[in-house]
Amino acid sequence: MRVLGIETSCDETGVAIYDGEQGLLGHCVHSQIALHAEYGGVVPELASRDHVRKTLPLIGQLLRETGLGRGEIDAVAYTAGPGLVGALLVGAAIGRTLAWGWGVPALAVHHMEGHLLAPMLEAQAPAFPFVALLVSGGHTQLVQVDGVGRYRMLGESLDDAAGEAFDKTAKLLGLPYPGGPELARLARQGDPGRFRFPRPMTDRPGLDFSFSGLKTFALNTLREVCAADRDEEAELRDRADIARAFEDAVVDTLAIKCRRAVRESGARTLVLAGGVSANRRLRERIQEIMAGEGGRAYYPRPEFCTDNGAMIAYAGWQRLRAGEHEALAFGARPRWPMEELAAV
Ligand code: KG4
Ligand code: ZN
Repeated sequence: MRVLGIETSCDETGVAIYDGEQGLLGHCVHSQIALHAEYGGVVPELASRDHVRKTLPLIGQLLRETGLGRGEIDAVAYTAGPGLVGALLVGAAIGRTLAWGWGVPALAVHHMEGHLLAPMLEAQAPAFPFVALLVSGGHTQLVQVDGVGRYRMLGESLDDAAGEAFDKTAKLLGLPYPGGPELARLARQGDPGRFRFPRPMTDRPGLDFSFSGLKTFALNTLREVCAADRDEEAELRDRADIARAFEDAVVDTLAIKCRRAVRESGARTLVLAGGVSANRRLRERIQEIMAGEGGRAYYPRPEFCTDNGAMIAYAGWQRLRAGEHEALAFGARPRWPMEELAAV
């Protein structure tokens, strides 16, 4: 069975075709970075309009590249939430219309389930059960995963998501959107010994997170040290050192909670997914932690950490083969708890 996947929940248009026997046949992503850059962040209305312009041509390109005709697609999966409602509605309308026109089932996919299953696209795929750390721009969640659709939330962020904290701190440091990867790049030049930021909520039991205080800590540190600087070079060094201290704090906090979750659940496998899982230092740290626990960490290739159509096609395929498909009425869900999903 072959599934076309469509992702339009935020600032990437992603499309892909997943085949149950042959694996991923192709995927294309159009990034809206250039569109939102001058505003310093995602402008929801511009995002929706760009998805309207790009989604169908991208599907046309994907069909040409894979050499597949319309009759060779067995289902259309689209991201139905969570995300920006206007952006979601574009993917939903296009996905549902194509499915209806082609006479095949449509599948409403949960964006975070897509992220969570993305490591399954790799040759070395994790086996259930496992603990997953989902770290994106909108979510930071530790989840006990016993199978597709069998999710139990172990902990989550009480305020900013890890990606959001990266983006906001990057902005304070004068870095362009999208801030996360820019901050990580700057941190590489930073001195890890100069500042030490707190590791929020690691001094008490539990698996929840709180990242909003870190950006305030970064801002206060920046104000303090920059006031004493005399030249541009010193200021540049301050920013790099602050970026490094911030990244170390986020990575360390996530790693401490991952180790705690793995110890509490007895899991030997940890899956890392979502945009922030592209962060090199986080990947290395989680790998070390899992090696120390006698287990293993799995994560997607960097292009499947951030938003893409492949993870939606794959999650859709999992649900299609379990016999799921949607009735004719449809909608999008800007908020959608993952625990509401049906077990497969
Ligand atoms: O999963 P994703 O593409 O979109 C959402 O579902 O939110 O995640 C985007 C988030 C952004 O906050 C971005 O700054 C962050 O992932 N991100 C990173 C890196 N690459 C992307 N954060 C830190 N280091 C990176 N290398
Ligand atoms: Zn995402």
